[in-house]
Order: sequence, then C-alpha cells, then structure tokens
Amino acid sequence: MAKTDHVFTCQACGAIWPKWTGKCDACGAWNTLVEESARPVVPGALAAPTGGRKAKALQFVDLAGEADPPARLASGISEFDRVCGGGLVPASAILIGGDPGVGKSTLLLQAVASLARCGASVAYVTGEEAEAQVQERARRLKAADANVSLAAETDLRKIVDGLKALKPDVVIVDSIQTLWADGVEAAPGTVAQVRACAHELVRFAKKSGAVLILVGHVTKDGQIAGPRVVEHLVDAVIYFEGERGLPFRILRAVKNRFGPTDEIGVFEMVENGLVETPNPSALFLGGAGDRPSGAAVFAGVEGSRPVLVEIQALAAPTAYGTPRRAVVGWDSARLAMILAVLETRCGLSFSGRDVYLSVAGGLRITEPAADLAVAAALVSALADRPLPSRSVVFGEVALSGEVRPAGRTDLRLKEAAKLGFELAFAPPQKKNGAGAGVKVRPFGHIADLAAALGVTAR
Ligand code: TYD
Ligand code: MG
Repeated sequence: MAKTDHVFTCQACGAIWPKWTGKCDACGAWNTLVEESARPVVPGALAAPTGGRKAKALQFVDLAGEADPPARLASGISEFDRVCGGGLVPASAILIGGDPGVGKSTLLLQAVASLARCGASVAYVTGEEAEAQVQERARRLKAADANVSLAAETDLRKIVDGLKALKPDVVIVDSIQTLWADGVEAAPGTVAQVRACAHELVRFAKKSGAVLILVGHVTKDGQIAGPRVVEHLVDAVIYFEGERGLPFRILRAVKNRFGPTDEIGVFEMVENGLVETPNPSALFLGGAGDRPSGAAVFAGVEGSRPVLVEIQALAAPTAYGTPRRAVVGWDSARLAMILAVLETRCGLSFSGRDVYLSVAGGLRITEPAADLAVAAALVSALADRPLPSRSVVFGEVALSGEVRPAGRTDLRLKEAAKLGFELAFAPPQKKNGAGAGVKVRPFGHIADLAAALGVTAR
C-alpha cells in the first residue's frame, strides 16, 4: 500500500486523521482539521545532525542534588513575581496566554525592562510587530533606556542560533503562533509548527539555563489557540485576563511547577502602561458605604491575599416562558445550585424571575466561600431590600442549606476592618464574637440568612 505523506491534524486537540472530515471525532470541534506533513517531528531534529556519533550513556543522579538550586530572578514587578511563585526560575519555560489587546506585550516589555535594569541579560523576540513598533511602545512605557536586545524574527532556526550566541538570562518570544520551523511542512500557527517551535525553544531554555517566556494567543472559548500541547511542554501557564472597557487586568497562574496556582496579580492599564495594584479591594469596591438592594460584598481570598469584591444580583420579572439566568465572573452551574437551595430550603421562588449575577470589576471568582455572598445578593434582590450597610458576607453553602466554614477567616475579617466594614455575615466560628474590629453574625443555615433579611417563604 502506498504510504501517505500527508495527514490531517485537529488544531484544537492535536488528534491525527488520515482523511479530512468536517468534525474531529476526538474532541468534537468543527472545521479544525488542517492538512500537515506526516513526517514525524523528532525532538532535536531541527538541530544540526549529529552524524554517526555514539550516544552518551544515561547518567543518574540522586534527589538531593549537589548544589543549592540557582536563585530565582525577581523582575521587580512584584505582582508578576508573586504569580510566578516568587520570581523566575532559571532553565524554565512559562507560557502567557490572553485575548488580543489585553496587554501581554506591554506587561512583558515592562518586565524585561525592569529585569535589564537589575542587571540581567534579556532578549525580546517579536514575530508580531516590527522593531520600530516595539521601540515606540518602549518609549511610551519609559523603558527605552533599558538594555534589552530586541529582534523582529519568525524563523525558528535564526532565533535559536541568535539566542545561542547571545546567551541571555531571560528571553521573551511574542508570540509562539507566529514562528515557523523549516523542517515542518505546515503553516505558522498550526499544531505541528507550534509544537515543534515550542519544543525547540524549551530545549534551548533547559540546556542554556535561560528563562523562556512564550506568549500564546487565546481562542474565543478561552483556550490557548490550537496547541494545548504547548501547555504540557512548559513549566508554568499563566493567563492574563481583563474585561473589555475596564482598566483592570488580572494575571492568574493555572499551572505552575514552581509555586502555587491560586495567586493572582492585579494591574491597571493606564496611559503609559500597566501599573501594579497592591491593594485590589479598594479598586473593586469603591468604599464601604451604603449599597442598593441586590449588592453584597464578598470577603474573598485569592492565593495568599484577601480581596473584597462586590457581587451584584438582579431578579427581574420574566417576559417569556423560560426565565433567563445570566452570570458574569462566576460559575453558572453554581448559580443554579444556589437558586435551587434557596427555593427548596427557604421556600423562596425565583421561577417567574430572570436572574442576573455579576462580579464587579471584571474579577472571576472560583472560591466556594462566595456561595453565601451570592445567596445574600439574590435574597436582597428578590426582596428589594439592601443588606445592612458596611457588611461583608462569606461562607460555603451545602445542598442541605447548611452554611459551612470557609478557611482564612482572620484574613478576611482583617481586610474588611481595614476598609471600614463593621459587620460580617459568616459561618459559625469556633471562637465567637468580634474579629479584628468586625462584628461577626454567624449563620448556620441559609434559611437563617433569609429570615435575618426579613424575607420569608412565599
Ligand atoms: P498589547 O500589550 O499590545 O496587548 P497584547 O500583546 O496582549 O495583544 O496592549 C494593547 C492594548 O493596551 C491597546 O489596546 C492599548 C493599551 N495600552 C494602553 O492603554 N497603555 C499603554 O501604555 C500601552 C502600551 C497599551
Ligand atoms: Mg502583543
């Protein structure tokens, strides 16, 4: 049988098919199959051939290692360093993903300029923009004086050779989707190209001890375009998120081999670049004063840092047969669960209402401790009665309606006190009473919360 030299690769999941079809049977995506060369890309195949040299025997070492691990490189942008787990680790690779225009190039240019000022040797390779465009941005960011080696190039072989000669401590490649390797017969941005280029660059980083930061584009449904495969090749995957029209930008680690993944870094995009926001609560809240009905302040914790954020709910009479449920910044399945618990355990009815829930400031909350705050906002919206002024809410809600303890209570209460809040609706505490100047009002069951707000069953 004749051997085919072309296959069709799904650009969403990387599955390989002998024939083109409209739908990838592996991941269910439509119209993602692209014709590529069937020649396998062997790791290192892009490097110079080694001839008939005999391979060196495999060397084993023990877990303790001989020397201390090399020190981390701090970029001086502390929000960025914290998300990386306390600075950049030599000989590692980081993938930064985000929507176009969110500010990835801006953040990384600021980071390399800061690293260069600290004495690190840094290279910035762009495949997206011309050198003049990056220089223009550097002037705008007041970073033009920093000693950064800049190159505009998309040919992988040239980039790797250039980096081998330069031997930088940190290298940025913006973006991985624009690179192409001449050994791979596929267009830039396809799974085969992205995988081959990422593999070669990661190999360079591991061998030379450099920190590699790759920029990756995100598709409409929030995945780093095409190659989930790249996520497995790198040591850390960080997303840069932000709502269109809002100045806040959030850096969030989703995978990190060298640190925790629940830390966030908060920035504000202003006229001349990204500014760190060490106290994000003030940004998301705008004061401790009176709030309208349907608004509850959630005392959350993101990683090691407390963040207070307003949760807004609206329960409007529905115009159509099936009521709408819309959520921004929270999980819609979790909203459905809280609504079901309120209906079943408190006898409140949302069946004739469209329910809208929004987390202020473009933040996305994943903590279960937000349950009680969401419930409080929903009950307040349904009854059209505001929550007590200067109050915060937190606690996890079980399907039984029981309010479960949330961790880090002290941290939450301290932050609330710092921002002028006086009352906390919280799960029952072991040691009851005032916490850090905030009066704690314990709720053991979600029905107690409805009763406290003066809302009773239908
Ligand atoms: P950019 O870093 O190019 O985004 P990405 O690399 O993620 O595509 O950022 C582009 C946006 O940032 C652009 O819409 C304008 C805005 N911006 C500012 O508001 N201030 C600035 O100083 C800079 C450089 C960009
Ligand atoms: Mg960019």
